[in-house]
Order: sequence, then C-alpha cells, then structure tokens
Amino acid sequence: MRLVLVGPPGAGKGTQAQFIASNLSIPKISTGDIFRANVSGGTELGKLAKEYMDRGDLVPDEVTIAMVRDRLSAPDAQEGFLLDGFPRNVPQAQTLNKMLAEFGTALDLVLELVVDDEEVVRRLAGRRTCRSCGKVWHVVFDPSSKEGVCDVCGGQLFQRDDDREETIRHRLEVYQQQTAPLISFYADEGILHGVDATGPVEEITQRAMQVLRRYV
Ligand code: AP5
Ligand code: ZN
Repeated sequence: MRLVLVGPPGAGKGTQAQFIASNLSIPKISTGDIFRANVSGGTELGKLAKEYMDRGDLVPDEVTIAMVRDRLSAPDAQEGFLLDGFPRNVPQAQTLNKMLAEFGTALDLVLELVVDDEEVVRRLAGRRTCRSCGKVWHVVFDPSSKEGVCDVCGGQLFQRDDDREETIRHRLEVYQQQTAPLISFYADEGILHGVDATGPVEEITQRAMQVLRRYV
C-alpha cells in the first residue's frame, strides 16, 4: 500500500502514522522527522532546513524532493510506504506522481485528517517530545507520569521550537495557502478520503483502518 497522510500541523499525522504503518507493516516516512534528525545531527541539510522550520515556512522544494527521492529508493520502501508531511504543495504532489511512475507504481490512497484550528493550537502548544526515543507526549491529552520525563525511556522531554503559538498560527496560514490545495488535487484523482481526526487516538486509528481495509 502506498499511502499519504495529509492534514494541518497538529492534526495527529505523526501519531496516527505510527499506528497505521505498523498495522500495515510498511515504513513510515516523515519529512519533518528526517529534517529534525538532520538538525540534531548538525548536517548541512539540517542547517539549511532549520532556518525555514523555525519560521514555520516550507523548506525549498528541490531540497525536500531530493531527500524524498532518496528515501523512496531504499529497499524497504519498494513494497509500500506511508508518507507523513509530504507532499506539502501541488508541485511536490506532481513530482511525487512522476517519481512513482518512473518506479512503475502510483499512490493508492490519500487520507486527510480533518480537525479545526483551535484544536490544532491546543494540541501543538501542549506537545512534548522525548529527546532520547522520540516518543511524542501531550501535557494534557497524553501526559507522562513525571513532568518532563519520558515514561518509555526516562529521557528528557522538550518542546519543539516551531510549537510557539505565533509560529503555530503561521504554520496554519502556510497550510491553508500551500497545502490545502492538495485536497482538491487528490479528490480530482479519485484517491482522497477524509477521516474525522477528533476524539481519542485509538478511535481515529480505527476510522482510518476502516477506510484502508477496503484497499488491502
Ligand atoms: P512536520 O513535522 O511535518 O510538522 P507538521 O505538519 O506541522 O505536523 P506536526 O508534526 O506539527 O503535527 P502532526 O500532525 O504530526 O501531529 P502529532 O501527531 O505530533 O514539519 C515540520 C516542518 O518541517 C515544516 O514546518 C517545514 O518547515 C518542514 N517540512 C516538513 N515536510 C516538508 C515538506 N514536504 N516540504 C517542505 N517543508 C517541509 O500530534 C500533535 C500533538 O497532539 C501531540 O502532542 C499528540 O500527542 C497530540 N495528539 C495527537 N492526536 C491527538 C488526539 N486525537 N487527541 C488529543 N491529542 C492528540
Ligand atoms: Zn523516551
């Protein structure tokens, strides 16, 4: 299954991607996670991406597309994948279609996680991530038992630089201007399915899996 998750920042793409990818036994490919790993590793790519990420802007297409092409060429992505955070605008979607055609394949499905702006701000303002294992927590909706410490590995929790309220609002604008047009792009291709992304995490996973089971 070749799958894309689309939705505003904080819709729960990363949270759901982890469960869906594991249910379907396909790799989860998150461009945000790859960029953040490069920022932590101090690579040239990370230095370039950080500037855009901290502002809440998109990293330039040529950089992002080259990175995705590389990742999709890896052996573990040949039988299927779940893309989280890519494509992010129509040119990226068009390039992805061309890239997959070169590989002799195509996308099967695009799932849109639907959630309103106020819920997005609540989710992102309270998000905390483990510095050691990467597990994502929420101070209200999914708190660790000891503040600032990961229950899974004992690592330190931190707040992402782009999760300040002002940057969150800017990311929402960028989403509306650049990413939301993908909804009609994929609807026109007949592969878009909307999923209500409010309520408990497990219920949202079940809603998504109900749609996906029709295709696997
Ligand atoms: P990226 O990391 O992709 O950020 P995003 O799209 O803004 O998405 P988030 O990671 O913020 O949110 P999410 O939807 O994954 O939510 P999560 O599951 O964590 O990109 C970051 C930056 O990288 C971009 O701004 C850009 O600069 C760059 N970039 C990335 N891809 C790019 C591309 N293709 N082109 C160009 N630039 C690119 O959940 C959020 C919180 O809510 C968590 O705390 C979670 O615990 C909680 N939560 C989740 N589900 C629920 C629920 N059902 N109820 C209550 N709380 C919940
Ligand atoms: Zn941890």
